[in-house]
Amino acid sequence: MPQYLCPLCQTPLNQSDKTFRCVNNHCFDLAKEGYVNLLPVQHKKSKQPGDNKAMVRARREFLEQGFYQPLIDKLTALQRHYLPVNQAYNLLDAGCGEGYYTHQHKTENNHVYGVDIAKEAVKIAAKKYRNCHFSVGTLSQLPFANDFFSWVVSIYAPILDAEFNRVLSSGGYLITVTPAENHLHELKAVIYQQAQQHDMEKSPISSLELIAQERLNYQMDFANSQQVLDLLAMTPFAFKASNEGLAKLKALPSFSCQADFDIRVYKKPQ
Ligand SMILES: C[S@@+](CC[C@H](N)C(=O)[O-])C[C@H]1O[C@@H](n2cnc3c(N)ncnc32)[C@H](O)[C@@H]1O
Ligand SMILES: [Zn+2]
Repeated sequence: MPQYLCPLCQTPLNQSDKTFRCVNNHCFDLAKEGYVNLLPVQHKKSKQPGDNKAMVRARREFLEQGFYQPLIDKLTALQRHYLPVNQAYNLLDAGCGEGYYTHQHKTENNHVYGVDIAKEAVKIAAKKYRNCHFSVGTLSQLPFANDFFSWVVSIYAPILDAEFNRVLSSGGYLITVTPAENHLHELKAVIYQQAQQHDMEKSPISSLELIAQERLNYQMDFANSQQVLDLLAMTPFAFKASNEGLAKLKALPSFSCQADFDIRVYKKPQ
């Protein structure tokens, strides 16, 4: 049974049939897709927070073609390397989107949770990956007890230093994946006149110790323009693409582009 905290009063939620309830009688229903919405309206900053349906669809299409498989292999290898085998633990994918990475972390020993503020994405994740626990929630106030997770992974999602620290157990790990300098450089070169490199110094985390940092760089070859358009649609620069840039992309017979990831492993001191 998944273990959550009530987002309104921070006491444990108990599940009975399809309802999660706290001692103060705040209730949250399990949706038919299998997720629970723990984002109270008063915590919502917009009507539809997080990524919209079109971005969610594009990301799904793109990821399912396997272009980021080397990243998955790297992340699951890190998990095997740092966490003891045969010991039960809880794992969080913070800002999990449609759960594409979340479910890859599931093993026989762990309980895997995915949280995202975008309901459309969580719906897809919960429906598809029944062996993980998905909730709609905000990273700025995670619906979990202190020290609950041994492993928190953040992939291209906002990093909330203090809150991640709170839910991590002592000796627990935070893995962040952010764009490295040349990530999608060739795509940006088509879209912008002058493509800038990613700034890798962003989001330093002060409360945890950085124990490892790796760069994963490889070339992706696209066979058709739809794949490139899906890739573009899942990036923040989709909004800035000019009609001229889009036309150029659509006209390309083939396209090759770098994936460049900065992977950091942080540890919470014992
Ligand atoms: C670029 S997407 C990455 C999704 C997923 N990790 C992946 O790589 O496929 C960023 C995700 O962060 C979520 N997000 C942004 N701000 C959030 C917040 N405050 N709380 C929870 N999720 C948030 C968005 O809805 C979106 O799904
Ligand atoms: Zn409550």
